[in-house]
Amino acid sequence: MDKKEVVLTGIKPTGDLHIGNYLGAIEPSLEAAKVGGGYFFVADLHALNQENSPQKLSRHVWSVAAAWLASGLDPDKHVFYRQSDIGEIAELSVILSAITPKRLMNNAHAYKAFGDRNARRGKDPDSGINMGLYTYPILMAADILAVQADIVPVGKDQIQHVEIARDLAGRFNRIYKGQYLTLPNYVLAREVSAVRGTDGQKMSKSYDNTIPLFTTPEVWEKIVKKIVTDTKVSQPEDSAVFEIFQSIASKKESAELLADLRSGKIRWGEAKEKLYNAIKDRFGRMSEDYFSWMDSPEKIRDIFEKGKAEVKPIAQKTLNTVKKATGL
Ligand code: TRP
Repeated sequence: MDKKEVVLTGIKPTGDLHIGNYLGAIEPSLEAAKVGGGYFFVADLHALNQENSPQKLSRHVWSVAAAWLASGLDPDKHVFYRQSDIGEIAELSVILSAITPKRLMNNAHAYKAFGDRNARRGKDPDSGINMGLYTYPILMAADILAVQADIVPVGKDQIQHVEIARDLAGRFNRIYKGQYLTLPNYVLAREVSAVRGTDGQKMSKSYDNTIPLFTTPEVWEKIVKKIVTDTKVSQPEDSAVFEIFQSIASKKESAELLADLRSGKIRWGEAKEKLYNAIKDRFGRMSEDYFSWMDSPEKIRDIFEKGKAEVKPIAQKTLNTVKKATGL
C-alpha cells in the first residue's frame, strides 16, 4: 500500500493573522504536507459563528487565502479550496450530527470556555452562544472526514476537535458496520502557546499582544520598540523580546543573543533591533507577496475554482458511501 497520506488543515477567517498563526499552524502544515498530499482550505462556514459583517467575513476569506499563498502553498501541488464551495461538507455534517452524542458537544472546550467565561461574569451560561459554536466540532469533523484525511496538523487547542472527528468516524463505522470513514490522527504542530506575545503571555488576539504577520517594516519596528523590558538582564530568557526572537530565529542565533544579554555585551535596545531584523528577514518578503495576492482577487478566485473542481468529486464519493450506508 503506497497510498500517500492525506494531510488536511483549515484556517478560520476571523481576523488578521499574526506570527503565532504562521509559526503554529501555517508553517507546520505546509511542512507536514511535503510528504503527503496536502489539503488546505479556508474554513469560512466556521467563521460565520462569530462574524456577522458580510464585508469583514469576505475580506478575511481573501486574506486567509492570500496568507496561504504568500506562505508558499503551491496550488498546483496541493489542493486548496474554500469550505463553503463544497456543499457536501455541510451535508455530511448534518448526517454526522445524527450520531453525535450531545454530551460530546457539552464537553467540547471551545464551547465550554465560552460558557465558563459567561459564568465568571455572572451571565447566563448560554449567553451569546449560537448552535454553530456548540456544534463546531461536528462541522470540523465533516471537513476532515469528507476528504478521508489521515493526518491533521494542529496546535494544542485543536487536539480535542480531531479526537472528536476520530470518535465520530469510529462511531459511524461501528453503527453501520463497515469501514466507510478514515479515522484521522492529529500531529501536534509546534505548541502554539510557545509563541509569546509582546506582553510575555501566549500570543493571542484576545490578549491584544500580537505581532501582525503581514504589515510594513515600520509597523513591526514600532511594535518591537514598545515591548516592555522590565526583566532583569540576568534572566533574559524570561523576556518577551527574547522569547519571540527564539521562536523566529535559529537555535544558534538564539543562544548567541541569550549569552550576549547575560554577559551584558548588548542591552535591550540592541536586542530589540535584532528582533526587529529577525522579523523583517523572516516575514518581509512574505508580506510583500501577501499584499500582491490581496491586489489580485481574480487570481485567488481562479484558484478556488480549481480547488473546488478537485475536492468536490472526493467529498461526493465520501458522501455517497455514507448515504448508502445509512439507507438514505
Ligand atoms: N478549528 C480550526 C481553528 O479554529 C479551523 C478548522 C476548521 C480546521 N476545520 C478544520 C483545522 C479542519 C483543521 C482541520 O483554527
